[in-house]
Amino acid sequence: MTSISRVVVPRDDIAARVKALADDIAAVFPKRDITILPVLTGALVFTADLIRRLPARVRVEPVSVQSYPGRTVRGQQCRFRLPPPEGLHDRHVLIVDDIFDSGQTMAFLRDAVAQRRPAEIHTCALLRKDRPDLPDRPADPDFFGFDIPDEFVVGYGLDFDSLYRNLPDICVLAEHARRPT
Ligand code: IMP
Ligand code: MG
Repeated sequence: MTSISRVVVPRDDIAARVKALADDIAAVFPKRDITILPVLTGALVFTADLIRRLPARVRVEPVSVQSYPGRTVRGQQCRFRLPPPEGLHDRHVLIVDDIFDSGQTMAFLRDAVAQRRPAEIHTCALLRKDRPDLPDRPADPDFFGFDIPDEFVVGYGLDFDSLYRNLPDICVLAEHARRPT
């Protein structure tokens, strides 16, 4: 029995969009010298593809954020498992996440990275989830790949219970796969 109920973004669409995103991103970094902060673990696959399309000098410095759903005060619901490196002063930074949902993770990261006084910060998420229930969501990422409906997706780095990150397409899980085993 398959765990997937439907493909939301097929692999060929992802590949084409990643290439276009890479060109757009390179164009806003005039020095083409970019320090990329991928948010582990979800942004791993996206970042691996993106950096190989980027016509730029690229450094990769992973970060990891633990979020506590349910807390509503901005910044209090996230903490670092792996914080940004010290040496970001005057760097041209791009934060890369898999999905922009409530926006809390990206807002938390942007604030934390700003304290390191980089030359500039841009943000990128492969997916932007439609959340009409959150009209006051923090500012959109500067770059995003696809708008998706408000459904839980997996694949291409995104997980459910640490599984399905290796699926090549972005998919909605079947109901039975979302039940605890
Ligand atoms: P936010 O802080 O609410 O924007 O959530 C961002 C984080 O939640 C992402 O980095 C993902 O790890 C996780 N997330 C949100 N929606 C999904 C989803 O549909 N599938 C998998 N992970 C998700
Ligand atoms: Mg994440």
